[in-house]
Amino acid sequence: MISFKNVSYSHNRESGIYNADLQIDAEDFAFLIGPTGSGKTTIMRLIYMDLFPESGIVTVNGYHSNKIKRRKIPHLRRNIGMVFQDYHLLTDRTLFDNVALALHIVGIDSAELEDRVMDVLYEVGLDGKEDRKPNELSGGEQQRACLARALVKEPEIILADEPTGNLDPIAAFELIKLLEKINQEGTSIFMASHNYNLIKGRGHRIMEIHEGKLRNGL
Ligand SMILES: Nc1ncnc2c1ncn2[C@@H]1O[C@H](COP(=O)(O)OP(=O)(O)OP(=O)(O)O)[C@@H](O)[C@H]1O
Ligand SMILES: [Mg+2]
Repeated sequence: MISFKNVSYSHNRESGIYNADLQIDAEDFAFLIGPTGSGKTTIMRLIYMDLFPESGIVTVNGYHSNKIKRRKIPHLRRNIGMVFQDYHLLTDRTLFDNVALALHIVGIDSAELEDRVMDVLYEVGLDGKEDRKPNELSGGEQQRACLARALVKEPEIILADEPTGNLDPIAAFELIKLLEKINQEGTSIFMASHNYNLIKGRGHRIMEIHEGKLRNGL
């Protein structure tokens, strides 16, 4: 589903990703753990092809980073649910619209659209808040709004970049359990976090990144 073969990317001389190898298969649940600035978001951006490697190849659902045409990138992202570390919610739109907009692109009728949006809002515990704008939601609620927006596309994989960063320990644990449930329903999950305590001992694969160097297994 996702593979990195000897991937390197540098933002500048001091920071980047160096010779990374990575493999995520269908229905996997894998964590990417590493301190702030170690390269977790950079890895995520390479997966959804917002960044392209300087050497090596990223392959996602049969699309190769060295061959993909720019116009095919939206196709690639249709099957990836991205939960961004900094939310990327549209501030002038309601919660409902923020989630619904992820589906407009795919093109479905309005009754089905409403059903699917309300279902995912319920799933993430935001039902009743659909008319609020992002600035009328707490940080943790905005984080769950991002998860709803990713889920509504029914993607094959969810990339969750520090999705618990703004949650208290109980809410963070609840969010992990929700991701586990989504995974059991057949969606792969790749989640970045710097909070090892939150993710250890849950039986999932853990990859570690340190100063741009990736290591499998912990
Ligand atoms: N657009 C950019 N331009 C220059 N340097 C960047 C850019 N984005 C990231 N970096 C640098 O690359 C390194 C990795 O950044 P990245 O955002 O991938 O880290 P991270 O592991 O996601 O950190 P955090 O836990 O704080 O989110 C850092 O040293 C960062 O300063
Ligand atoms: Mg990050």
